[in-house]
Amino acid sequence: MTETVIVNDVGPRDGLQNQATILTPAQRLQLIQALVDAGVSHIEFGAFVSPKAVPAMAGAAEMAAALPPGKVHYTALIPNRRGYELARDAGVRSMGLVVCASNTMNEKNIRMGTEQAMTVCANVMQEAKADGCDLQVYLSTAWECPFEGAVDPDVVVELSARLLELGASQVVISDTIGAAHPGEVRSLLSRLVDTVGASVLAAHFHDTRALGMANAYAALEAGIRRFDASVGGLGGCPFAPGATGNIATEDLVMMLHLMGFETGIDIDKLLAAGQLAGELTGQCTGGRAYPWLSRNTARLQPH
Ligand code: COA
Ligand code: ZN
Repeated sequence: MTETVIVNDVGPRDGLQNQATILTPAQRLQLIQALVDAGVSHIEFGAFVSPKAVPAMAGAAEMAAALPPGKVHYTALIPNRRGYELARDAGVRSMGLVVCASNTMNEKNIRMGTEQAMTVCANVMQEAKADGCDLQVYLSTAWECPFEGAVDPDVVVELSARLLELGASQVVISDTIGAAHPGEVRSLLSRLVDTVGASVLAAHFHDTRALGMANAYAALEAGIRRFDASVGGLGGCPFAPGATGNIATEDLVMMLHLMGFETGIDIDKLLAAGQLAGELTGQCTGGRAYPWLSRNTARLQPH
């Protein structure tokens, strides 16, 4: 039986939040439409953050009202309670709250220490439960923090367990700056899979040191079946020095299809979405495998 892997395209959020070119909500919706056309089932469409802090994410409420219909699971990133309330009031039913595994990164990103962020999380979780909203949590800088260096795996395991206990639907273990290597990815994620189970975990990798796909493979071997990726490999965090793009959705889908996993994604149409991302931003590589993929898509269509 073919096994399914869920690919969540975070390009419209993680991909665009740090681009020199700021896209309008209409342009971002155009990119989302292209992803929907390609069969991408999970899309992070934007972020309810301060437009002063991240101008590229302005207009999320406007976008929420105009998302392409279909069987797509849309999420929005939120940094705090205000973000939750803005998203909920815009009709969003699924949000991703950010908590960093290191204190300094929390301070830089959301201006709270880790314990304060956990308290906010507990409060937002209660509100989400009462509102019937689904809340997942990004556990950022899970291997290395740009300010504090290596992160203790015990801390990540403990925070993940606490977040799930608080009611998070899943924890997205994130290598925000692309500093992890496959050995430590396998060891941390295997431990987490054993502790909390793969069904409540997802992995999020950046490709800063060309280890993004190797890390995704290590996560797959550890049992992870949900991945974030960004169309065309767009991305980077404005508050994490050195963060470059996410792993490209095209590269991830290629690897998964070659290995016999199903994603529901049409690779030809995904390449078209990547081209559109390039046209809109003027800064998109299309992923490392693009030159090969553009000549060989027939081999990668679902059988
Ligand atoms: N959405 C929109 N505006 C928000 C907001 C949210 N989620 N949270 C706070 N604000 C606004 C406040 O209304 C206030 O606006 P004003 O200056 O016009 O009065 C301003 O932001 C500062 O509010 P404050 O409560 O003092 O926030 P803060 O300074 O403690 O935190 C953050 C600011 C966290 C909201 C802001 O830095 C942010 O949105 N960061 C984005 C983080 C991010 O997206 N990182 C990348 C992804 S991991
Ligand atoms: Zn990221």
